Amino acid sequence: MQNETTPGRRAPFDVMKLVIVSDLHLVAPGETLFGLDPLERLEACIGDINANHADADLVVFAGDLTDDGRADAYAALADRLGFLLPPHRLMLGNHDDRAAFRQVFADAPEIDGFLQSRADIGGMRLIFLDTLWPGHVAGQLCDRRLAWLDEQLASVADVLMFLHHPPMPIGIPSLDACRLSDPDALLVLLKARGNVRHLFAGHVHRLSHGNWDGIPFTTVRGTSHQSALRFDGPHAISFEASAYSIVLAGRKGVVVHTQEFDAKRPGASMPASAVMA
Ligand SMILES: [Fe+2]
Ligand SMILES: [Fe+2]
Repeated sequence: MQNETTPGRRAPFDVMKLVIVSDLHLVAPGETLFGLDPLERLEACIGDINANHADADLVVFAGDLTDDGRADAYAALADRLGFLLPPHRLMLGNHDDRAAFRQVFADAPEIDGFLQSRADIGGMRLIFLDTLWPGHVAGQLCDRRLAWLDEQLASVADVLMFLHHPPMPIGIPSLDACRLSDPDALLVLLKARGNVRHLFAGHVHRLSHGNWDGIPFTTVRGTSHQSALRFDGPHAISFEASAYSIVLAGRKGVVVHTQEFDAKRPGASMPASAVMA
């Protein structure tokens, strides 16, 4: 799926407004995950986007759409997406299942069997990568996926890149251990092209910002559970507020905001040794 759109002008960079939603972790409708109802959270998120950002040029769903790749969870997602006002783009994460996803989203873009796509908006190119590595918590970009990425980076000046797994460490060892495998291959490619203005990732269920060898990045919160901020020790989930992010971007710059949308949460953090982002 590739498209060229010309959005209206928006401050401060006068080009586009994007919304990033990540880590839905949908389970069977009616069931809960860590005491939360992921589908209820998604509904609240869509309601908030419709109320406040219906003018977004695109809503990017940055992977882990479901918690365990259930077909009924994808069906529930498809149903709720019918209520989302702006256009959207779906990505996969380590908790997703390509075959089950395809059963519901048969028309989703496909490159060599991978859910990769691009969108050209206001002179910028948005690239959406598929880092799903079946059977692994960590992510992967194989030679075919990297080759496609390199083609998309060629001959464009300004790129925003989206992938589920962060390639860079964020200083939380339990999450850094399951980021993108072989990040150096990606970094070599990106540095050679030199046109990625900002990189966005999900997976870590945590808001962080920085730069990766000079490439600015943001990781975003999930709509379900979050990751506790632990600079040592095992991974732990937390019940900090669910949120989505809003990106105002143009060729002159990028700014990222984060919007909490649901105050209903049980409270204290809890360990989840068997559950990674
Ligand atoms: Fe993930
Ligand atoms: Fe996740």
